[in-house]
Amino acid sequence: MNLTINIYYTGKDGNAIKFVEEMISSGIVDRVRKEEGNISYDYFFPQNDKETVLLIDRWKSEEALNKHHKSQMMEEIAKLREKYSLKMKVERYIEYNENNKYFETVIRQRQATRKFKDKKIEEDKINKILEAGRLAPTAKNIQPQKIYVATSDDAIEKIDKITPCRYGAPTVLIVCSDKNIAWTKGNYSTYEMDACIVGVHMMLEATNVGVDNIWIEMFDKENLKKEFNLKEGVEPICLIPLGYKSDDYEGNILHNVRKDLKDTVEFI
Ligand SMILES: Cc1cc2nc3c(=O)[nH]c(=O)nc-3n(C[C@H](O)[C@H](O)[C@H](O)COP(=O)(O)O)c2cc1C
Repeated sequence: MNLTINIYYTGKDGNAIKFVEEMISSGIVDRVRKEEGNISYDYFFPQNDKETVLLIDRWKSEEALNKHHKSQMMEEIAKLREKYSLKMKVERYIEYNENNKYFETVIRQRQATRKFKDKKIEEDKINKILEAGRLAPTAKNIQPQKIYVATSDDAIEKIDKITPCRYGAPTVLIVCSDKNIAWTKGNYSTYEMDACIVGVHMMLEATNVGVDNIWIEMFDKENLKKEFNLKEGVEPICLIPLGYKSDDYEGNILHNVRKDLKDTVEFI
């Protein structure tokens, strides 16, 4: 699956252009182009902005890009970026093709959003997101989840009292699970696991319909129960703020930091 990475470098006094000139004269650009899996590595200059340069690099796979990120060249590039005091904005695009269709794109494009616009979410999108939760698997198919959709001023005000992590989202899903009915054996219950699966279904469907989101664990659960008068045994599991990311949101810096498969997977 081909990946395209757009990197906007911005600096004062024509530093972005000087950076590119040094990238080329030092031979780094040629070396990147010879790396296995590199399709292209090209710079573009906007006609009326001397402060910005756009690098478009294309790779045959995520693995090829990861290898590039771990190469000696990345250190050299980072040093040059520092030398010219450049700011960097990165965008990642996945090429659409028959094999990855939509699911692969959704999986890769979901990302934690920590700055939302106040634009409301269309009702049909909310319904699709909730429907994806309804279809989630749960232990013994008991479906102990209880989802509260906080959109009114009153509900949002209450959310802000119990977490600093709404990030301006106009809607927040409060994902709860009813311990009274969830599958239980002795002291063990799947109430939390069930609700997490429901939450993940809704999160991925949100990304699928173009609604940005984030999973929030940091909230005062006891206060939430009081503020929203939750029934005894209905436990809040997570919050999912939903909305449209702010134009100046630069993305979650941790998003692209993932361990290698070999560190988390073992074929036995
Ligand atoms: C169980 C869980 C709890 C999280 N809690 C919070 C939280 O309380 N506040 C927050 O800002 N982000 C929270 N996050 C977001 C993670 O920091 C984020 O998902 C992670 O850095 C990976 O980045 P990505 O979602 O962009 O891929 C949480 C994520 C998960 C899965």
